[in-house]
Amino acid sequence: MSDYETIYKESIQDPEAFWAEAAKKVHWYHEWDKVLDVMNDHYRWFVGGCMNSCYNALDLHIENGRGDQLALIYDSPVTDTKKTFTYKELRNRVAKTAGILVNKGVVKGDRVIIYMPMIPEAIIAMLACARIGAIHSVVFGGFAAHELAARIEDAKPRVIISASCGIEVSRMIKYKPILDEAIKKSSHKPTTCLIWQRPQERANMLPWRDVDWESEEEKTDPIDCVPVDATDPLYILYTSGTTGKPKGVVRSNGGHSVALKWSMDNIYNAKPGDVFWAASDVGWVVGHSYIVYAPLMNGCTTIVYEGKPVKTPDPGAFWRVCEEYKVNILFSAPTAFRAIKKEDPQAQWVKKYDLSHLKAVFVAGERCDSDTLQWIQNITGKPVIDHWWQTETGWAIAANPIGLEQMPIKPGSPTKPMPGFNLKVLDDDGKECKNGKLGNLVIKLPLPPACLMTIWGDDTRYKRAYLNHYKGYYLTGDSGYIDKDGYVFVMGRMDGVINVAGHRLSTGGMEEAISKHPDVAECAVIGVNDSLKGEIPMALIVLKDGIVRDKDAIGDGIRQIVREEIGAIASLHLVAVVHRLPKTRSGKILRATMRKIADGEEWQTPSTIEDESVLGEIEEAIKSLGYPLPKPSKEKE
Ligand code: COA
Ligand code: AMP
Repeated sequence: MSDYETIYKESIQDPEAFWAEAAKKVHWYHEWDKVLDVMNDHYRWFVGGCMNSCYNALDLHIENGRGDQLALIYDSPVTDTKKTFTYKELRNRVAKTAGILVNKGVVKGDRVIIYMPMIPEAIIAMLACARIGAIHSVVFGGFAAHELAARIEDAKPRVIISASCGIEVSRMIKYKPILDEAIKKSSHKPTTCLIWQRPQERANMLPWRDVDWESEEEKTDPIDCVPVDATDPLYILYTSGTTGKPKGVVRSNGGHSVALKWSMDNIYNAKPGDVFWAASDVGWVVGHSYIVYAPLMNGCTTIVYEGKPVKTPDPGAFWRVCEEYKVNILFSAPTAFRAIKKEDPQAQWVKKYDLSHLKAVFVAGERCDSDTLQWIQNITGKPVIDHWWQTETGWAIAANPIGLEQMPIKPGSPTKPMPGFNLKVLDDDGKECKNGKLGNLVIKLPLPPACLMTIWGDDTRYKRAYLNHYKGYYLTGDSGYIDKDGYVFVMGRMDGVINVAGHRLSTGGMEEAISKHPDVAECAVIGVNDSLKGEIPMALIVLKDGIVRDKDAIGDGIRQIVREEIGAIASLHLVAVVHRLPKTRSGKILRATMRKIADGEEWQTPSTIEDESVLGEIEEAIKSLGYPLPKPSKEKE
């Protein structure tokens, strides 16, 4: 049996023994009494254990003699800034920031929302919360006030931490007015907003609520780590579901640290001292796990990159960072590499840089098409590892664990399930599918450590969304199959969630926003193929009777509403006005059929359709938006 097979089998046969062994790599003030406790569909790992995630990420390394090693490199082509922090320097900033939070009344279990651009202070804020047992909830900087307000309403933070602005290539996004508007919209109000004033923009401060972080830090004493229970929440991270209301995924301290440590050794083959660069954003789960916690817990150097793969300033940006900081492991989304390929199809830029320190490139966030995977492999000469995961799991469900055993790569597959993920493919009746047959990807319970504990404030939704479909299984929401060699293939979402440039967005949320337009009677948003972003939304709109306004103006209004309600990140550009939407006799909109039409796939008129003549108009409307896209001609290698 191969190393992978042995380890995987052990983890499924005796998960408690497996994870108890892995937990030895984490620092505990007090070891657990019970490895796994199951109660009422809740799986709690390392019950009775006492630890601190910030201690494991920073103080432990200083005590072990790594205090002067670089912990964090900040590289910001958009502000032309570079900065480094040793473990000691980062710990000192975190300890003082934790002191500010305590002085502002934050205690263990309080929530703190962090709405920040990609600057070191975003990481400092997260670790400061972890240090005192406060639960952080990072909101991606690209979300608009409405989305931020929904998260404030749900998480009810005592404090919000933000910055005066973010910079998108050459455009400045003033964060403070967005924050002020979000707080105005929310019925819950934080007592304090801690603001990092950036030199590019000084935010107006409200003297009774807003505090200048930098000057406050100067006069605050550092504080020590507070021991927390392994089962205490470390953070809440909101993710898109089928409706507009985001789901607050709750992650615990202990299980998270154990699984991430295991992943660094075994999946990424990252050693203490290695430079680990996850080119993502702290607002996403990849950023939480692999910009912040895992690299630091593993004694690596992490990189906070405030820039894009292209245009900041050129498609050589990733390769420049890899050379300059001797990056050992690079991790990003396939869409980032597609953007580079689009601007540099002959891969001229990569030739200018020395990638000799790079051991492997990891991709995740969306399905990695074989062309992109092979292109990255060809131009870098490094193994390219696709791995599949979700906000809910916090780490890879399936991967090629190169630290354990590098298995042959099958393009299009994220390889095999990771320890503890007892992955199955079930049909709609709950029967296990044969190898190669497409079905629902599910995980037999228990889930391994680090996976979600519940949905914040909505345990019923947790059970409804994930556990009630198939008794004893967690529903991933993805469809796929497992081939005869045990390789997993993830084909797409089963629900109304779409994946735009590696960002998970809800079509239901966009429909809710569009419905606010005064001229709209009803609408349907579907995800359609896009050569750069993988998927983008397309909205089909039915207007109220008697509306004679110019359709282009209505389209612009709809685009604007989605931008203002959700954020520019939604990338809704495709809008078509139709007279009717295709529906079943029971009134369900036939989104899957419209999607097939838009993607140029074979489709049949559903037998349940109320009026099949509608489909002709839908086809025409989709064509007017340039869909289906012409089939790409095969490029010569
Ligand atoms: N704050 C404010 N606005 C933001 C933002 C942020 N943090 N991030 C993105 N936006 C805005 C962009 O400026 C853009 O606005 P525009 O429509 O006015 O131009 C819009 O949201 C869409 O952004 P994006 O999806 O990033 O598209 P892009 O065309 O600017 O860039 C890529 C395309 C491929 C370069 C970019 O999507 C990318 O780098 N993707 C990598 C994805 C990734 O890291 N995913 C994480 C999962 S691993
Ligand atoms: P998020 O929670 O935002 O990280 O999005 C998770 C979703 O992204 C998954 O449920 C998948 O649909 C998709 N996804 C992430 N990584 C991959 C991958 N490597 N292959 C296919 N789909 C992926």
